[in-house]
Amino acid sequence: MQSATSSSINLNTGPSGRAIAQPMDKDLLEALYQHTSLERDSSAQYLAMSLWLLERELRGFSNFFKKESLSEQEHGFNFAKYIIARGQSVELDAVTKPIQNWNSVEELVTLSFQMEADVTTSVQQLYSMAERSNDTRTTVFLDPVIDEQIKSEDEMAYLLGKVKFAKNDPSALFIIDNELNID
Ligand SMILES: [Fe+2]
Repeated sequence: MQSATSSSINLNTGPSGRAIAQPMDKDLLEALYQHTSLERDSSAQYLAMSLWLLERELRGFSNFFKKESLSEQEHGFNFAKYIIARGQSVELDAVTKPIQNWNSVEELVTLSFQMEADVTTSVQQLYSMAERSNDTRTTVFLDPVIDEQIKSEDEMAYLLGKVKFAKNDPSALFIIDNELNID
């Protein structure tokens, strides 16, 4: 009986020659690329919001959205890192030009809430695809992402609720702006 030696093991390797433990479903990989783009687009969108608010002397709001922009960038990086951990190469798309004008702070925060909900929907779709292809590694990777999305939605809904109360009244908006500066 011949014992297995390291040279007799045939490893699957990815485009860069990295070892692959479990091949990844083609559609799932494509969806992970698209989600990575969505996170990068969100980052650019939050940056545009931060700048719009800065121009209008709302520094607290501006800081809040700057932090959001950086955290979306980090999310995009995490997805790319995961794709590499699975032995695949990352294909980056061009970042979509963000919306850069709003009629009110409420309109801006409403869009932010919608963006967070869209990101969660995309993660849920990834989750279903991963389950269909028995890719437990990906569902485990996505679990904390979903948890974080629920927190982001809650945070954005809270901010939207407060902004709605303010009804675009400048003095009320400045109170919220001061609170956001403390965080
Ligand atoms: Fe994100």
